[in-house]
Amino acid sequence: MAKASIKTVFLCSECGNDFSKWHGKCPACNEWGTLKEYTPPAGGQRGKGRANTPPLLSLEDILTNGDSERATTGISELDRVLGGGFLRGSVVLLGGNPGIGKSTLALQAAAAVGGTTLYVSAEESQEQIALRAKRLGASGEKVSITSENRWEGIEEQISLLKPEYFVIDSIQTIFTERGDALPGAISQVRECGQKILDVCKSRGTTAIIIGHVTKEGVIAGPRMLEHMVDTVLYLEGDTRHDYRLLRAEKNRFGSTNEVGVFEMTGEGMREVKNPSEMFLAERQSDAAGSAVFPSMEGTRPILVEIQALASNASFGTPQRNVTGFDLRRLSMLLAVLEKRLGVIVGTSDVFVNVVGGMRIDEPAADLAVISAVASSKKDQAVPGDTVLMGEIGLAGELRSIAGMDGRLKEAKRLGFKQAVVPHKGAKKVQGLHLTTCRTVSEAFKAIF
Ligand SMILES: Nc1ncnc2c1ncn2[C@@H]1O[C@H](COP(=O)(O)OP(=O)(O)OP(=O)(O)O)[C@@H](O)[C@H]1O
Ligand SMILES: [Mg+2]
Repeated sequence: MAKASIKTVFLCSECGNDFSKWHGKCPACNEWGTLKEYTPPAGGQRGKGRANTPPLLSLEDILTNGDSERATTGISELDRVLGGGFLRGSVVLLGGNPGIGKSTLALQAAAAVGGTTLYVSAEESQEQIALRAKRLGASGEKVSITSENRWEGIEEQISLLKPEYFVIDSIQTIFTERGDALPGAISQVRECGQKILDVCKSRGTTAIIIGHVTKEGVIAGPRMLEHMVDTVLYLEGDTRHDYRLLRAEKNRFGSTNEVGVFEMTGEGMREVKNPSEMFLAERQSDAAGSAVFPSMEGTRPILVEIQALASNASFGTPQRNVTGFDLRRLSMLLAVLEKRLGVIVGTSDVFVNVVGGMRIDEPAADLAVISAVASSKKDQAVPGDTVLMGEIGLAGELRSIAGMDGRLKEAKRLGFKQAVVPHKGAKKVQGLHLTTCRTVSEAFKAIF
């Protein structure tokens, strides 16, 4: 590790550790090519703590006097992902692909939360922000906008305005004068991140930091930025479609399973209260290779369509292509399909797609995935009014899943008439015909 007397060190962009000499591979996290030269700011500022030592408080005092109320934005999809609104003094990092709607969502949240807000936009001019605010119909009384990009200037404005919230759009475009690297450099992002954190924790201000993502899909800059903040949100979606999914990658004060669904419109991000309806809107219920699965996103069931196409491989090794589902899980399911159910897909290209850009990582989707593939292979549709769920074991057994009741009720609400479910844990839902199965082959008898 670097000694305090050493001027220039080498900083790892992955783990944030520093070293006195350059290495091709970071000795701490073993990543290759991540070490970058870094000169700490003059005057021994590096690693400097807060000016005053914070007072010692007993947990009892904090619990009785602490004000940890959450401020809701009224945008319920956002509040849910945050774990019930913004917590005072917390730092939220919002990442996402270019043009996905990060600034839009941050500005809408700033206007909706109703507290004094400083919106720092180093990327766009004040006029551009105002134009967007007008388009969104956001009331701007309490939102002040600055295009300052020096941290020192931003800090000054924070101490003058004393805002309850501030938005940094984006962390890659601001810099501190104490560092000599360009904005967006690992050292700048790290220093500015640390300063934002200090301001939030000492003043009780809530910050929303917007972060650009790299082509690998992670927030650009040091990985440690994600460790420093309280909540990391990702706005996902296909820019060619209008829906956007907001996911919590990390949340110190809430669940990371919740997902917020939005639609990008001319008036900004509109909440989608009935995501199941949206995801099933374009479904052709009589088409072969399609199955509906009630997925569980946190506490909310969302019905999604799983599509599969099995076609004869024209040459070479058959392809397995999957979007929104685990490829290795698919391979396992294809093996079960061949071995236990006699549906031969070894010489077929198999494509599986979870419609609407949804990503499913629960094994409860197994039955729907395997049925969609079999349906395409047999060229025989799964009944359009049926939902499928259940985890599949290697022996071909259909295993119980969590949250079946909620899933079935959502299916019933959307007009489905039948459900094929695992034998164990099945509960009757009025108006929905349940077929309980112990194995996949029993399930296939009911479906095909
Ligand atoms: N008038 C409009 N009607 C509909 N959608 C619009 C309109 N203007 C902008 N958009 C949408 O807003 C998106 C840009 O949103 P925003 O600027 O919030 O994205 P961002 O994630 O902040 O982008 P960047 O990475 O460039 O900062 C555009 O891709 C477009 O889909
Ligand atoms: Mg933006």
